[in-house]
Amino acid sequence: MKQDFQNKIIWLTGASSGIGEALAYEFCQRGARLILSARRTAELERVRAQCIDPTRVKILPLDAADLENIPEKGKQARALFGTLDILVNNAGIAQRGRVVETEMLALQRVFQVNFFGAVALTKAVLPEMLERRAGHIVVVSSLTGKLPVPKHAAYCASKHALQGYFNSLRAEVARQGVKVTLLLPGFVQSEISKNSLDERGNPRGKAFAVRRAMRADVAARKMANAIARGKEQYEFGGIERFAVPLYAFTPRLYSYAVKRIKT
Ligand SMILES: NC(=O)c1ccc[n+]([C@@H]2O[C@H](COP(=O)([O-])OP(=O)(O)OC[C@H]3O[C@@H](n4cnc5c(N)ncnc54)[C@H](OP(=O)(O)O)[C@@H]3O)[C@@H](O)[C@H]2O)c1
Repeated sequence: MKQDFQNKIIWLTGASSGIGEALAYEFCQRGARLILSARRTAELERVRAQCIDPTRVKILPLDAADLENIPEKGKQARALFGTLDILVNNAGIAQRGRVVETEMLALQRVFQVNFFGAVALTKAVLPEMLERRAGHIVVVSSLTGKLPVPKHAAYCASKHALQGYFNSLRAEVARQGVKVTLLLPGFVQSEISKNSLDERGNPRGKAFAVRRAMRADVAARKMANAIARGKEQYEFGGIERFAVPLYAFTPRLYSYAVKRIKT
C-alpha cells in the first residue's frame, strides 16, 4: 500500500457511510491522520474502529447544514491535531422528484448541505491555509455537476454550483499555495439513494436501484490517487462518464437523448 498521505492531516466530511467511509479507510491505510465528520456519531465511531490504525483517527460530529456552527467546528478541527493539510468536502444529499412537484424547502435542504455546507467548511479553514501558504481543498461533486438529469434538478443544480464556485476559488488561491480539487464520480455503491429526499424535502427512506454502480472502495482508491496527484478535476465512473464529452461536444445529441429518458 502506498504511503503518499503519510502524516497528512485530513478533515473528511460525510465519513459515516458510502464514499466517505471508504475514503476514511483508504486515507488511513495510506498513512494519514484523520478527522471524521458527519451527523451520526455512532457511525463515525464504527468507521474509526474499522480504520487500520484507529489511534490516528479522531471524530468531530457536525451538521453541514448548521452554517452558524461551522466556524467553531473549523477551530475544533484544527485543534485536534494542531493544523489541517486537506479538507475533503464529501458530505452530500440527493433529492429525487419532478420540478413541478418539488417544494422549495426540498431544494433549499439540498443546497444547504451540498453547496452552502461545503462553502462554509471551506471558509472555516481557508484563512489559516492562506496564511501558511499551504493546503488543499477537495470537493466531491458529481458527473451531474456537468450534466442535466431529469428528476434530479435540485441535486444537479447544487453540484453545478460547486463546479462554478470551486473552479473560481482555485483561480483565486492557486498562487498562494492552496490547491483545489474537484472530484466528479459517476454511479458509486453507497447509501445515497436511501438517504435521498422526496419532493417535500423529507428522507425517502428507500433506495432506488442504480445498476452498474462502482464499488465504494474502488471509487475511494481512484479519488485518493487524484488528490495525491493534486489534480484540478477528476471525472470517473462506468459507461456514464462518456456522457460528459457527449454533452460538451454534441450538446444537441445529449439533449435529444436525455429528453427521451422516461421520468
Ligand atoms: N453514490 C454516488 O453514486 C455518487 C455519485 C456522485 C457523487 N456522489 C457524492 O458523494 C458524496 C458522498 O455520498 P455517498 O454516495 O457516499 O452517499 P451516502 O452513503 O448517503 O453518504 C453521505 C454522507 O454525507 C453525510 N451527510 C449527509 N447530510 C449531512 C449533513 N447535514 N451534515 C453532515 N453530514 C451529512 C452522511 O452522514 P450523516 O447522515 O451521518 O450525517 C454520510 O456520511 C456526496 O456528496 C454525493 O453527492 C455520490
